[in-house]
Amino acid sequence: MKYANRMNQMTASEIREILKVTEQKQVISFAGGLPDPELFPVNEFLTAANYVLKESGSQGLQYSTTEGFEPLRMQIANRMNSKFQSQITKDDVLIVNGAQQALDMSGKLFLDKGDLIVCESPTYLGAINAFRTYECRFISVLTEDEGMSLSHLEETLKAHPDIRMIYVIPDFQNPTGRRWSLERRKRFMDLISCYDIPVIEDNPYGEIVFDNQIFPSLKKWDKNNQVISLGTFSKIFCPGLRVGWISASQEILNRYILLKQSSDLHTSNLSQRQISKYLELFDIEVHIRKLILAYRNKRDIAVSAIKKCFPADIKYTMPEGGLFLWIELPESWSSRELLEVCIKENVAFVPGEPFYPNGEKKNAFRLNFSNADEEKLKEGISKMGGIIGRYHSASMSETI
Ligand SMILES: Cc1ncc(COP(=O)(O)O)c(C=O)c1O
Repeated sequence: MKYANRMNQMTASEIREILKVTEQKQVISFAGGLPDPELFPVNEFLTAANYVLKESGSQGLQYSTTEGFEPLRMQIANRMNSKFQSQITKDDVLIVNGAQQALDMSGKLFLDKGDLIVCESPTYLGAINAFRTYECRFISVLTEDEGMSLSHLEETLKAHPDIRMIYVIPDFQNPTGRRWSLERRKRFMDLISCYDIPVIEDNPYGEIVFDNQIFPSLKKWDKNNQVISLGTFSKIFCPGLRVGWISASQEILNRYILLKQSSDLHTSNLSQRQISKYLELFDIEVHIRKLILAYRNKRDIAVSAIKKCFPADIKYTMPEGGLFLWIELPESWSSRELLEVCIKENVAFVPGEPFYPNGEKKNAFRLNFSNADEEKLKEGISKMGGIIGRYHSASMSETI
C-alpha cells in the first residue's frame, strides 16, 4: 500500500507504548500524565448530565455549530479573564476536542513542509508528534528554571527569519513542571512583538497551582494579537469528555473554525452542554481546590521519597504546580536503559529523549506524581532509588 509521505514522520507515541506495559497490575507507573481518577466529580457530573438529557436531550443529541455551545464559550471566557488576566469574550473562544486537537490544527494552519518551529527544550511530546505530521523542522530553545532563554531565542530569531511558529508551555510545563517567571513572560512578549510570528501558549496546568500564585497568560502583554491560547478541562475536571478550547484574535480564530469545520464539524454537543451545566450547578473552584491539596500532598511525598532514596547528586525539579517532576541523571547515562531495568522490577516512567524534538539529551526522565496512590508513590520511588543507586555505584567504580 502506498501511504502519504507524511506517514514517514509518524512513530507510535513512546508514552502509549509504555502505557501498554504499565497496564499490568503489578507495575507501579509514573509514566502517563493521568489525573487521579479517584478525584473525578462523578456524582456531580451525573446530576449535570442527567439534567441536560432531561431538559434539552434532543438538542444535545443534535448536530451543532462549529464554534461550540455558546453558554460554555461564555463561561470559559469569564474564567480565563478572572484567572489569567486575559480580556476575551465568548466570540474569541472556539471549543475543540481537547488541547491536543488544537495542537494538530495549529500545525495544519501554520506549517508547510520544511517550515521551522521554535519550541522549548524539552517540550511536550504530544505537541512534537502533532507538528511533525506537517513535516516541519524544530529548533529547540533552552528552557531555564525562569523560562525560555531569551538570549538564545533572540539569536535564533535573528538567525532564522523564516520561523513560522513558536510553541510554549509557560505554566508547570509538561515534562519538567517548570513555570516561567512573571518577568520572563513580559520580556518574552517584548521580544516576540518585534516579529510577525504566532505564539501558541499551551496551558493545561496553570490552575493546578500549589503556592496560590496564578500567573497571567501571555495574552496580557499581547499588543499585536500574536498569542493563541490553548486551554482544556482535562486536568481541572476530566480528560474523558475531550473538551478544550482555543482563544485567539477573530482573524486567526476564523481560520481555525474553517479547519475544524472540514475536520469534524464540531466537538461533542452533549459533552459541551454537560460541562456547561456542571459549571452552572456546582462550584468548580471547590473541586480545583480539592485537586490542588491532593496533588500538592503527592508532590511532597514524591520529593521526600526522592530525597531519601536517590543518590544525592541526582537533580530534580520542585514544581509549584501541575503533575510532573523532571529528573536529570548524570550526563553519560541513558534513561531508556534505566527504564528497561525498572520495568523488569515493575516500576515505570517516561524517558526524556522523546521530549527533545532533535533528540538532544538522553539522561533525563519524567515522573508523574498525580496518578499513583501515596503508598505506591513511596514504594515505586524507593524501588527506583535502589536501581539508580546500583547504577550509580557501578559508574563510580568505573571512573575510579
Ligand atoms: C502540554 C499539554 N498540552 C496538551 C495536552 C493535551 O490535552 P487534552 O487532554 O486537552 O487534549 C496535554 C496532555 O497531557 C499536555 O500536557
